[in-house]
Amino acid sequence: MVLSDANKKIIKRLGKDIKAKAELLGADALARLFMLHPQTKTYFQNFTAFDASDTAVKMHGSKVMSVVGDAALNVDNLRQLLDSLADKHGKDLLVDPNNFHLFADCIAVTLAIYLPEFTPEIHRAVDKFLELVTHEMVSKYR
Ligand code: HEM
Repeated sequence: MVLSDANKKIIKRLGKDIKAKAELLGADALARLFMLHPQTKTYFQNFTAFDASDTAVKMHGSKVMSVVGDAALNVDNLRQLLDSLADKHGKDLLVDPNNFHLFADCIAVTLAIYLPEFTPEIHRAVDKFLELVTHEMVSKYR
């Protein structure tokens, strides 16, 4: 998957919006993941609630979406940026790789709802970008 210069321009512009609203976007995306794919709750043993208004979901959502925002701002350097997180998810947390695709779909829906605009061009750039992020995040399983 290769991002065109036009795709990169769109994604870099979104990076700032994503970081500015990291908690709101992250909590919404996580709540969708937990609602649509309840099996993903099993990784979060310390969570007592799974909706977007829960403090732990908000805190974790903020961390996750902040990284997605950084990835958008550093789209040419994803491997280096995500290297240690990929290690953690692949080797310590042992998150089933398929979950990253499920989560990417949830993130795309969240962005479609909360970003000021989500034209077909932005949708395509986001889709390609999230595929690249997913690719890096599942790169350390063996
Ligand atoms: C775009 C994809 C993802 C990104 C950017 C991401 C990012 C992060 C970050 C930044 C942390 C905190 C790391 C730390 O504190 O050292 C984290 C922890 C974690 N992630 Fe992910 N993550 C992603 C996908 C997933 C998925 C799909 C799952 C499981 C369904 C998952 C499960 C976890 C768990 C269980 C933790 C540890 C939580 C805790 O310490 O309480 N992550 N992730």
